Order: sequence, then structure tokens, then C-alpha cells
Amino acid sequence: MRLLRIFLFLLPSFASLPAHSTPSPTPPPARAVEADIEAKVSALIARMTLAEKIGQLNFPSLAFPYESQLEAVKQGRIGNMLNVVNPGHLRSFEAAARGSRLKIPLLFAIDAVHAFRVTFPVPIAWAATWRPDLAELAAEMVARETAQDGINLTFAPMIDVSRDPRWGRVIEGAGEDPFLASAFAAARVRGYRKGGLATAAKHFVGYGAPEGGRDYNGAQISIAELFDRYIPPFEAAIGAGTETVMASFNTVNGVPVTANRWLLTDVLRERLGFGGIVMSDFFAVPELMNHGVAADLGQASRKALHAGIDLDMAGEAYRRHLGTEVAAGRVSMDEIDAAVRRVLTVKYRMGLFEDTPGGARKIPSAVTDARVRAAARAVARESFVLVKNSGATLPITPQSGTVALIGAAATSTSDHSWYGPARLEKPKTETLEQALRRRIGATQTLLFAAGFADACGRAFKDKAEAIATARAADLVVLILSEDCVVSGEGASRTDLGLSGVQEKMLDALAETGKPIALVVETGRPLALTSAHEKVAALMIAWHPGTEGRTALAEVLAGEIAPSGKLPMTFPRSVGQVPISYSDLPTSRPATADRYTTGYVDEKPTPLYPFGHGLSYTTFSYSGLEISAPRMTRDGTIEVRVEVENTGPRAGQEVAQLYTRQLVAERSRPLRELKGFQKIALAPGQRKTVRFTLKASELAYHDDAGRPVVEPGRFRVFVGSSSTAELTDSFEIVAD
Ligand code: BGC
Repeated sequence: MRLLRIFLFLLPSFASLPAHSTPSPTPPPARAVEADIEAKVSALIARMTLAEKIGQLNFPSLAFPYESQLEAVKQGRIGNMLNVVNPGHLRSFEAAARGSRLKIPLLFAIDAVHAFRVTFPVPIAWAATWRPDLAELAAEMVARETAQDGINLTFAPMIDVSRDPRWGRVIEGAGEDPFLASAFAAARVRGYRKGGLATAAKHFVGYGAPEGGRDYNGAQISIAELFDRYIPPFEAAIGAGTETVMASFNTVNGVPVTANRWLLTDVLRERLGFGGIVMSDFFAVPELMNHGVAADLGQASRKALHAGIDLDMAGEAYRRHLGTEVAAGRVSMDEIDAAVRRVLTVKYRMGLFEDTPGGARKIPSAVTDARVRAAARAVARESFVLVKNSGATLPITPQSGTVALIGAAATSTSDHSWYGPARLEKPKTETLEQALRRRIGATQTLLFAAGFADACGRAFKDKAEAIATARAADLVVLILSEDCVVSGEGASRTDLGLSGVQEKMLDALAETGKPIALVVETGRPLALTSAHEKVAALMIAWHPGTEGRTALAEVLAGEIAPSGKLPMTFPRSVGQVPISYSDLPTSRPATADRYTTGYVDEKPTPLYPFGHGLSYTTFSYSGLEISAPRMTRDGTIEVRVEVENTGPRAGQEVAQLYTRQLVAERSRPLRELKGFQKIALAPGQRKTVRFTLKASELAYHDDAGRPVVEPGRFRVFVGSSSTAELTDSFEIVAD
């Protein structure tokens, strides 16, 4: 009754994408092509033995010596492989598949995420550009390098939304926000596909919400939240044409995703309409025994297949047990055939069957190192986030006087960023010291001290020398780095401070009284509260990749103004985690009063909010206008705002649009990002930024996961971060 009274409006489909998630440029295969593929797949399945069918569901990792795997491919018992990177090995396996009875080509997959040869900034840095088009370019370039050797599938993009910087894998995603993450999910899928690789959107779903931030840990997520926050990037990836989806390792509400038929079949396939391959994560099928939902491998295989896992990655469970399970009548041939059909269909859609000997699948032409590096530089330039800059400490100008560059990372030729797959031989990385000297060396003195024994500051090398160098300068540029081995998979942290002896170095340099511009390379938000207080300027550089240090020098020296914005909140302390601008309101909004939402020993606000990022110039927002005071539940309005560059330099600004539904049946987030645009402005220049807001994008999900557009008043906030103050409101009306 209550629901009826407020005219809850159920949307007809789940496919509504945010404005930035435009569909894939590659149109889905026409109906005739699909019919032809279906017929071919049916004919093929009719000819397959059970062993050959199970082979198509088998997805082992390359193991040495690999002769027995070659033989298994020839016999049709291996249909797909991961981690075959060496072109010679790839050719041998391709030849083995061509020599098999049915000549079914293999999927060759690796984690080509932000690197094959050239290393791009890490994916969270892609999101910090707030330019999905740059992420698309980066993904395309990585894919073009990778596809040349015969690899045809990447285990990317990782599109897990996460509000927990303790979780090391935030480095691989686009941060905490479903709207931003959806835009980047779609862009990355488009890019990798354009570059010649099929994609694996991962990890479906809720992997980014492990309790305590501990990797692989279970997630407790309400159904409404699952659909509001964690599923949208997967809808976007599906809309952009991802061929495969990887299931996540963890439990969601107590059931491991690998054995969760509701999530993999009812939600992913039926509600979201995903028609491609669903694969397990690495060894996740046998790990169902560790989860305590399978007593043996046979049961694990049965449960995973029944849940909707088509490919058993590295688990060997399907290969060893599905035959027996079918013979015993515990697994039906129909279930096997359905999985095989999905695998073969994707292989046809990818054009793998048209391979000529030697592997001439239609992939984009080779790309020069110079082009890939230019793209890597472009991404790095726009990914740096200047979070503090008192007294215009940065950029370095001749007026900055003598500069002391301190930190072993400044002479490192490795970008020491997390793992990447792929080729060991990497192109050379210019050091920050070289890059900075080239820019400011002619006009001013640049001193250097390593300070630490290693680039990640695990131990001092010569602390006294570093202090003396700082004393001899007018400005200290200190580069610190989160330890590279503490980012990525299996790298959860309880402490989000600077690692090793870096905080001690900062303390010592701060005591000199010299202004410090601190650059932090990191794969996750850190709790930099004490560092913030000691420095004049602070720039988050992420792990910037092969071209990163050069790009960093360009920005430090003021050739380019920083324009990145945080895709994830930086907390004041680890105890605040999880903290997000889009938290729900509470009964007692935080004030100075004790009995309100907050901590007795910490401020309630984060150190740096979502969306925050400064430039070397300033921007002002004015003239907010909404095209109509109200719209219906299928309506659209336009929000316009004037942005002006009010400072002395050219720069780029990310104009951000947030909404809040003021009164609804559920408590709605304090703010939700609903639009963003990056614009370039010369000094004094003004531009009108227009956002289109569809009522359907303001839907939330009910307890059954159904999207609801609830009439009511919405407040709009526009500005340069999630704390934007320029505001107005409009209403959604029933009819
Ligand atoms: C990770 C996946 C990755 C796979 C293959 C797993 O441990 O969770 O993201 O694609 O390994 O390398």
C-alpha cells in the first residue's frame, strides 16, 4: 500500500547506463551472423565427445615442461590456456590445436592490465584523470602490444567498486564510485577490444567489499546496495561488449560467488542479459572446499558448473571430475552442452575459427613504441592529483630558488609499480632527476640526495646528507613511494601510513624549516594527515609507469598544470575506513557534539574528499541553471553552469555534478555523482558546462533489487569536488 501511495516506478530494464557509458563502437553481431554461429556451434557440439566438451571448459595455466599440455591440446582435452606469453610457445599450442580432431582454437589469456611492454600508470590513476577517453586509449595500446603475439583475451578490466583502501586491489580499479567506475569500465572494455583482445570484466561481484579490507574475505552486501553500488560497472562492461566475466573469489552474504547460482545465472545472465563466458578466478573451483561448501572436488565441480561457471581457471576440477559426475548422473549433459555452447560461441564471435595457419586473426596492426609511450605520457600527465598547494609552492619557478630533490625513487629507472604480466624486457624509464634537471637545470640549481637505500624507502642510505641538502636549498621536492610489494592482490594493509622510514625522513626534513613539496607514489589512498601538516604542497602521483617520471617533471616544472581528481576518498586515519562522500545520512549528522556520528578522537571528515584536486590556477562556478523545475519519471533535464578560470594560468578542471534525493522511502546517499566533464580553460576564459540528467539515472534499488525512480525533490550540487557548494533543486513528479 505504502509503495503504491508513493508511486514507485519500476524501470522496464536494468540496462540504463550513465551518460559516459556509451555502447561499444563495435556493433553486436547482426542477427544473421548470430544465427550462423549458432548453427555452427550446434553442429560442432553434435560431433564432440564428452572428453572434448570438458576440454573446452578446461582453462589451465602454462606449466613446465609443457609437452604433456601440448599433447592434451592435440587430444582436445585443453581448450584454453593462461599465461602463455612467449610467442614460440603460443605458436606451438596453436599448432597443437590445429592438429586436434576438431581444430577448435584456444583462448590465450593473460593479465594485460596496464602493461605489456610499455607500462602505463596503474588503473586507479586512469580513473584519476576523469577522462574515460584516455583510459580507452591506454587499454587499446596495451591490447595492441599484447595481441601482436597471439594472445587473444585479457583478464581485465577490474571494475570492482571499493571504499576500502586497506584492500590492495583498489590499485586495479576506478575507485569508490559506481558512476565513475561504470564510465571507466565501459571505456576500458572498448579500448582493449579495439586493440584486439577480448575482455574479462572482473570480479563479479562484491570482491571490493571484503570485511576488514582483507583480500578474499567475505562481503556482506544488502541486495539494494549490491545493485546500487557494485553491479553498475558490470552492466556498463556488458553494454560495451565484454566477451567474458570473471567470478570473484569471495562469499557474498555467505555464499561463495563461484557456487552462487543466484548471482551468476539469475542476476548476471538473466537480469543483466550477459550471454558470454563466465569463468572462475584462479583455482576458485577447488577452493569451494576451503569455503566449506563442497566436500570434494566432484561436488565443487558440480556446484560451480550449476551456478554458471563455464571455465574452470587453473583448478583442474572440471577436467578430473566432470566425466565421472556425468556418468553418475549427477551432472546433466545439457548443463555441459550449455557451457560448451557459450565457450564456442564466444570463440566464433572473436573470429578465432577464421584463423589461418600462423594466427592471422584480424587484429589491429602493430603499434610503435613511440605511439604507446606518447599515450602513456598523456595518461600520466592528467592523473597526478595536487591535493595541497599553499602559497603556490608548486610549480617550481626560477623564484623557487635552489631546489633539493630528495628520495631514491628520483633516480630509479624502474617504475616499480605493482605486478604486471608479460614481457620481462621493459623500455627504459627516464628518472625524475634527469627529467627535472632537463627542465630547470639551466635556470636554477638542482641538488639531489637519495636519502634512502631503496626507492621504496625501506631503510636510510644517508639521512644526514639528505638533511644537509635540504638546508642548502630554498625548496625541497621530496619523493616518497608506497612500497611496491604492498599494492595489488594479497596486499591488504592495517596501516595506511608511509612505509619504511619515510615518515622519519619527512620529519627530519620538516625540521629544517624549508618548504617541502611532497610527491607520493602510491597504489591506494593513504592516511597522510601528519604529512599534510608538515608540507607546503602535496601531489599524489600514483605509480605512473614508463613515462611517469617525465610527466611528473613536466608538471612539477609547470609545463603542464595538474588536472587529476581523486577517484577515492583519502581518510585522515585508517580507523575512519570505510568513509565516502556518498555515505547515507544518519540520525545524528556529525557536529562538535559528542552524541553525533563520528569519533571522539578524530574529525568526521576525510583528509581529502572524493573528487578533490587542485590546479596551478583557480576556477569559479556560477550561474547554475536547471532547464525545468520538474520532470516526470521518464524525463530528462539539463543542468548548466558557468566555469571560469580565475587564475593566472591555463588549466583543466573537472566540473562535477552531484545529486541528493531529500526525502524518499529509503535513506538516500548524502550525495551521488551523476555527471562530470573535464574542460580546458585559458586564463580569464569562461565556458558553459551542460549536464544531461535523466530521471532514470536517479533510480535506486529496493530490497528485491528492482530499480525505482521515486518522485520527490532532488538537490543538485555543482563544482570542483564532492564538497561543491553551488546548489539548486528540482523535482521528479509522478506524471
Ligand atoms: C586474480 C585475477 C587474475 C588471475 C589470473 C587471480 O589471482 O584474482 O584477477 O586475473 O589470478 O592471473
